[in-house]
Formats: sequence, structure tokens, C-alpha cells
Amino acid sequence: MSQAADFLRERLADARPVVAPPVVAMVLGSGLGDLAERVEVAARIPFADIPGFPVGAVSGHAGEVILGRLGGREVLIVSGRVHYYESGDAGAMRPVIEAIAGLGIGKLLLTNSAGSVRADIAPGSVMMIEDHIAFSGLNPLIGEASDARFVSMTTAYDERLRAGMAEAAAKLGETVFGGVYMWFSGPSFETPAEIRMARILGADAVGMSTVPEAILARFFGLRVVAASVITNFGAGMTGAELSHAETKEMAPRGGARLSRIVETMLQEGAFDD
Ligand code: HPA
Repeated sequence: MSQAADFLRERLADARPVVAPPVVAMVLGSGLGDLAERVEVAARIPFADIPGFPVGAVSGHAGEVILGRLGGREVLIVSGRVHYYESGDAGAMRPVIEAIAGLGIGKLLLTNSAGSVRADIAPGSVMMIEDHIAFSGLNPLIGEASDARFVSMTTAYDERLRAGMAEAAAKLGETVFGGVYMWFSGPSFETPAEIRMARILGADAVGMSTVPEAILARFFGLRVVAASVITNFGAGMTGAELSHAETKEMAPRGGARLSRIVETMLQEGAFDD
């Protein structure tokens, strides 16, 4: 058991001695903190207080773990992920994912901002991740010694949780695309040639996160569901230059829709079993 999990278990028990453990943990992408604001908060714990937790450097993000209630369920929110490009460590989120598993939370929802490589998936859209391509060539399990490192990724994105997300979106009358997320290391954005390549290779969206966490989650036995908020068309698809400012400005738009979908999933019991 990780020290972080022990520490968090105590802190969470202090906050809520008697209720059920969280049904899901969520790692929220930058600009997608809307969900955290809708939560009835019971405890907030800064990353800096938790043994072994990474301290990120993305603008506007201080990492914290939030325990609270959303959609009538207990949830654990991780706000402020760290990315590979901050440290060069693809396993930077390992202590976080390990602690989630150590707390006995069996499900993980990952969200991110991403660029679309498909003309029909416009900025503001929500794309449920059906599969991924670890195009960076990196892997958070490099150096892991046990045979458990040979993790099956055949059904990395859990079919039942995906069905739950699709049902919640349908209930709300929201369109959710399904697609393949391609992980680039960043932090520079892609070139137009890389976006054309991504499309040819079968990607629907590109981004700089989520894949290492999905691999780690499968390693630790968590069921995963993930969604991208599309903030822009990929490089070269329009005349525009890409910028982090645009990503941050656009993320809350699709983010608000994704938040409603997740809240509905919770209300409908998609994370209960
Ligand atoms: N590329 C990579 N990551 C991103 C993008 C993009 O176009 N938009 C938001 N995150």
C-alpha cells in the first residue's frame, strides 16, 4: 500500500467518517475544473501535503485532491494533473493513480483538452475516448520490474462505463463523438504534417495527456473512462495559429457540457457497480 493512500485514507476518514467510499476518482484536465466547482466539498488536500505526490507547473494549476458529493454520489477529484512535458517523466502520475487504487476506488474518469483532426468534430465538442495511440513512444511502465508490466490494453477504455457515458449524453440530448486519441509528448503543438499523419494513422483527436494515466490505471486494475473536450482544430486545418491561451479559453465551453454528462452518469448509477 502506498504511503499516499494511507495518508489520504486518514484524511478522508476525518472528513467523512461514516459514508461510503468514493465510487469514482476523476483526473480533470486544465480548464475543466467546472466539475470540481459543482461538488459539495467535504475535504480539499493540496498535492504538496500528500507523500510522493507530484507538484505540477502548468499555469493556473495548483494540484489538489477534493473529496465531495456530486450527483448524489461520493467522488474523489484530482485537480491539476502533471504532464510528461513538465518533467520528462512519463510515470509522473503514478503515485496519484496508485493511491486511488490503494484507497479501493475501482474506477477512474480522465478528462482532457484536445485538438480535433476531423473536420466534423468542431471546437466545443465532447469526444469519448474509445481507444488511443501512444504516438509519443513513451510508456509510464518502462523500468517496472514485475511481469505485471505487460498490461493488456485491448479493452483499456471500459465498455460498460462508455455505455454509461453514451446513455447519459443521450438522456441530456448532448452529442458525444467516439474516437481515438493520439498522445503526443508536447509541449509544442503539432505541425500540419503531423496532424495529417495523425488522421491517416486513425486518430480523431490529439493531445498531451491521459494516455500515461490510462496505462497506469490498467496496471493498477482500475476501470477507465475518458473524454476529450475539443478546444481547436489541429494545426493546419484552419488558417489559425494554435495557442495555450485559446485552449484555456475554449475548454470551459465543452467542459460545461462534459460536466453535465458526468453528473448525469453519477445520478444514473453508471459508477455504482
Ligand atoms: N494539440 C495537442 N494538445 C492539445 C491541442 C492540440 O491541438 N489542443 C488542446 N490540447
